Amino acid sequence: MTVLENALRESADRVGQELDQILTTDTAPEQRLIDAMRYSVLGGGKRLRPFLTLQVAGLFGVSERSALRAAAAVELVHCYSLVHDDLPAMDDDDLRRGKPTTHKQFDEATAILAGDALLTLAFGVLANPATHSSPAVRADLVVRMAKAAGGHGMVGGQMIDLMAAETELDIGAITRLQRLKTGALIEFACISGAVLGNAPQKAREALRGFAHDLGLAFQIADDLLDVEGDEAEAGKALRKDAGQGKATFVSILGPERARSQAELLSQQAVEHLAVFDDKADLLRMAARFVVDRRR
Ligand code: IPE
Ligand code: IPE
Ligand code: MG
Ligand code: MG
Ligand code: MG
Repeated sequence: MTVLENALRESADRVGQELDQILTTDTAPEQRLIDAMRYSVLGGGKRLRPFLTLQVAGLFGVSERSALRAAAAVELVHCYSLVHDDLPAMDDDDLRRGKPTTHKQFDEATAILAGDALLTLAFGVLANPATHSSPAVRADLVVRMAKAAGGHGMVGGQMIDLMAAETELDIGAITRLQRLKTGALIEFACISGAVLGNAPQKAREALRGFAHDLGLAFQIADDLLDVEGDEAEAGKALRKDAGQGKATFVSILGPERARSQAELLSQQAVEHLAVFDDKADLLRMAARFVVDRRR
């Protein structure tokens, strides 16, 4: 196992434990909802976004407790987005992380509600005093998350993604779509670690540049996996984007040029990290990982 794979696994374990604690299991009449939330979040996924939060937090000496809570909040929003993305009204998928999607395992209404509750829970986690002693820092995180996840962030990106089936998008429009639907949350994952650590402006700018290029490279790699990947490895249905009229770098540029674009972005992402010493090496490796990954 590579150094990065080891670090990813170790961080995924810690984040998994945190999520397990956050997602309470009390028996209640609404138990079915809690079961669906836990099903959607626990036991699967690369946990890349929380890894980014933990790594960035590590650059600025953030406490383990704060970093893990912010990381968990990012993963809650990500998991909610997957539950809704897989619904019949959206991408209509039956398999996610190697298991039936939440609406298949439960039902559509339960999946919608589980997504709603995961999103809401994430804000509760960020705003909770356990996340940071300073109310100003917590409010800053909440505002940034609202922006990243909302109508001019991830959800806005999902809207454009769905509308792209009816409209032709050029490369600029597709770049913006990807920035919103995937990039915004990845950027929040990185910046939240810097906010918790009260990082200087120059470091924040470097991280923003890193996250920008990494996020785009990540989504291009996802779109390439849809064309070239192995379903068993990816744990989700592939070869669906073209049939659903998705606008991607692959649909416009073809796989080869899309791959070189992703490679270039990954290199650029690393260059943004020049202001940091070897403490940022795992982030540098993560930039390589997002384009080399098979799942
Ligand atoms: C899938 O994200 C959805 C996209 C934004 C492309 P990931 O590839 O990070 O999925 P998990 O969390 O590892 O399952
Ligand atoms: C999903 O993008 C993006 C969000 C969930 C916000 P995709 O639709 O390409 O992700 P997969 O391929 O289903 O994982
Ligand atoms: Mg989608
Ligand atoms: Mg999808
Ligand atoms: Mg995809």
